[in-house]
Amino acid sequence: MKKPRLLFVLGMCCGTGIASVPPSSTSIPSTIPVLERFLDGELEKAPLRFGAIASAFRLAVRPDGKPLIIAHRGASGYLPEHTLAAYAAAYFMGADVIEPDVVLTKDGVPICSHDITLDETTDIAQRFPGRARDDGKHYAIDFTLAEIKTLEKLGRESRVRMRGHTIPTLGEMIGLVQNLNERTGRTVGIIPEPKKPEFHRGEDREIERVLVETLASHGYTDRDDPCVIQCFDLDSLWMMRDELGCDLTLAFVFGEQPSRETLDRAAEFCDAFGPKYTMLIESPALMEAFLPGGDFERFGLYPWTFGDDPEPAHEAFRLGVAGIFIDYTDVGVAARDRAMSRLATPDAPATEPVTPGSGRPRTRPSAP
Ligand code: G3P
Ligand code: CA
Repeated sequence: MKKPRLLFVLGMCCGTGIASVPPSSTSIPSTIPVLERFLDGELEKAPLRFGAIASAFRLAVRPDGKPLIIAHRGASGYLPEHTLAAYAAAYFMGADVIEPDVVLTKDGVPICSHDITLDETTDIAQRFPGRARDDGKHYAIDFTLAEIKTLEKLGRESRVRMRGHTIPTLGEMIGLVQNLNERTGRTVGIIPEPKKPEFHRGEDREIERVLVETLASHGYTDRDDPCVIQCFDLDSLWMMRDELGCDLTLAFVFGEQPSRETLDRAAEFCDAFGPKYTMLIESPALMEAFLPGGDFERFGLYPWTFGDDPEPAHEAFRLGVAGIFIDYTDVGVAARDRAMSRLATPDAPATEPVTPGSGRPRTRPSAP
């Protein structure tokens, strides 16, 4: 296989201790000094491949071929995750795609929540004493939608805790995005993730079926539609594709490096891959497969999850990813546009523009 020169950068990253980033880190350390060498001529722009991932989904939401900004749980860095406010904020910060995680209620309604339990992000323990399971937790599947609608949705732990928010259904989330698309003329996509399919199966529920049917009822049925289903469970993705006949774009996401066998299986029916972002530098062999000349070069790579430091996001775009999941939508948009403008004019100063609505000025200069 042809060795893309980009691998040199990855090799250098691993050799400088960056590979020892703790898994719990919310943002990878800046590798700008390495990147500067890359940008300054050790590696030319030719190996970069912005726009090379020509999936129907990508073209549908960004005809210009720029990498996608995926609002992770909405603009969850600013507002309680998975609320209509967080989704709307992400929309107007320039997200290309907005992510709802999905779990089911007792009455089978798909709601937007990262957790199958609601203790971490709502006041459910105070509102429904005595309704916890033996492990002390309150499961969404044990509560009707009417009950869940009485809860106050809060930010996770100490993060963006503010009041006045509720848990939206997936239908409400989609309604928000589709209505805004109609009013703005934009085509912002969605990338729902069914959470814990096995747990739901243990409760005699098929979250995959509910999800696919809900999406279809809102017009999302084909690969050309601006909707991707992502899942950590490859069997669930296969069920949706095979048993349920789902023709939407499918993305296999993973937090640990999958075996080659697993990747090969995913490649048979999935369209994109979503690795944990640390793999960009910790797993050069994996990355190699997605680079030009690699066995998986035709697939989009969508790493997750970037935080408020623009440099790792900028670096990911320079590496040529097809999109990123990020909590701070505006930071992602600015990092993407900066990377794109430097690609177009490599001699331009490496300063990050402060864009209207970008939250706050970025004062940290790039490395010389
Ligand atoms: O699917 C990308 C990302 O959302 C996965 O992480 O735990 O936030 O769902 P998580
Ligand atoms: Ca998710």
